[in-house]
Amino acid sequence: MRDEQPFRLAVLISGRGSNLQALIDAVRSGQLRARIECAIADRKAYGLQRAAAAGIPSFQLKRDEQISENIHRWLAGRVDLIVLAGFLSILSAEFCKKWVGKVINLHPALLPQYGGKGFYGKRVHRAVIENGEKESGATVHYVTAGVDKGEIIAQQRLRLSPGESPDSLQQKIQRIEHPLLVGAIQKLMAERGARIVG
Ligand code: GAR
Repeated sequence: MRDEQPFRLAVLISGRGSNLQALIDAVRSGQLRARIECAIADRKAYGLQRAAAAGIPSFQLKRDEQISENIHRWLAGRVDLIVLAGFLSILSAEFCKKWVGKVINLHPALLPQYGGKGFYGKRVHRAVIENGEKESGATVHYVTAGVDKGEIIAQQRLRLSPGESPDSLQQKIQRIEHPLLVGAIQKLMAERGARIVG
């Protein structure tokens, strides 16, 4: 049954889309037995070109107060999981309630530390370095109304090198994020499959 109906993903992005590319590659290679139904951006994002190149329907939504409602309208009944892969708009509490357990986010730090409003991209790495942390990493977690507060699904740590800069840390973290995100989705799919079968 599950083989006939692939697990359907929507990927939401705001930027480069290297994580979207990792998902595209994992689907292509058969590592991830899912289908990316669409990619949605909340601004002009290079990742939309990656989606188009892969033949994935992709579009940009206006970054306004209705964005959560618009995403809901586009995706309701069409996807099994929404993946926030560098998506910077905050989804409304109402949206999070409707989609509970069906939205995951990738964050470039070891949550619960260095999360919440204002902690995104290089700002996170700058704060980690300024605080003299020895470790950082990446986290995949469920999205809830509390920003970056949802249950953790997967996490990977790495050590900072002497003289680490926000740029070098960002590069190191992005390398571990790609397999972490693919692995987290595989884990969720396996859990849900187990529930369907059981
Ligand atoms: C990733 O590093 C992701 O962890 C971060 O944005 C980057 C997107 O990279 N997300 C956040 O900061 C969310 N708070 P990508 O566009 O190359 O996938």
